[in-house]
Amino acid sequence: MTRDAPCEKTERSLSLFYPHHLFLEGVTAVLAFLAIALLAFVWQVPLEEMADPGDVTYVPRPEWYFLFYFQFLKYFEGQLVVVGTCILPALIFVLLILLPFLDKRETTNIRKRPVAAGICLLSVFSVVALSVISVVEDDLHGYRMELPPITEEQIAEGKDIFSRFCQICHSMDGKGGFIAPDLTQIGSRANRVYIERVVLQPQIVSKTTIMSLVPLSDTERHAVSAYLSRKK
Ligand code: HEC
Repeated sequence: MTRDAPCEKTERSLSLFYPHHLFLEGVTAVLAFLAIALLAFVWQVPLEEMADPGDVTYVPRPEWYFLFYFQFLKYFEGQLVVVGTCILPALIFVLLILLPFLDKRETTNIRKRPVAAGICLLSVFSVVALSVISVVEDDLHGYRMELPPITEEQIAEGKDIFSRFCQICHSMDGKGGFIAPDLTQIGSRANRVYIERVVLQPQIVSKTTIMSLVPLSDTERHAVSAYLSRKK
């Protein structure tokens, strides 16, 4: 078997994994831990508001650096979820632990290691792509909505749109259809963002809902949500 020449650096500073390298790693880990502990102590990180179990409008999302995994898990539904949460991560970590035994070549030259470099690039690409998909999906479903302030014209327009497109199914102030929940007091149990999300994607209320997707423009939808959120 031909071996790649060890690169200059390793030749100059040839040291053993145990104890040299392990000692260095240990010291670094302790220093990093202390630095983070100190930061957490000095820099009071603000918490969100108290959790309210009655609030159906809250959208829980992990921090940005975890979004990729959050998105990844969306592809494993029902019984498959154990594949995404346990089996695949376990396989990846076992592979990482075994890596030094599986691949003993000493060169660190990327061009001589196309497979390793390819896997590395693919991982980075997947993490970035999944994070972007997560943000884009949330945008499409209205999870990170910034709504314009409510105006009186908007409320009047919303009332008009509601009577034309929504009142066939929903009743309001005693008038309208009865196949859908009465929305006379919707404003006291749901906020604007939730109403916007229901209109954008009725399935969030229930997967089998008969509520149809009403194709409204952004302005029309903002008007309806402004109108409904004031119905208390
Ligand atoms: C085809 C009938 C239909 C139309 C049209 C319709 N909806 Fe609905 N909507 C429903 C049904 C049915 C539900 C109840 C969801 C379920 O459990 O299936 C619902 C639920 C809702 C909810 C959630 C109510 C709650 O208590 O959480 C909101 C908000 C809502 N609709 C708003 C609208 C708006 C705004 C429009 C017009 C743009 C509209 N709907 C048009 C049938 C309809």
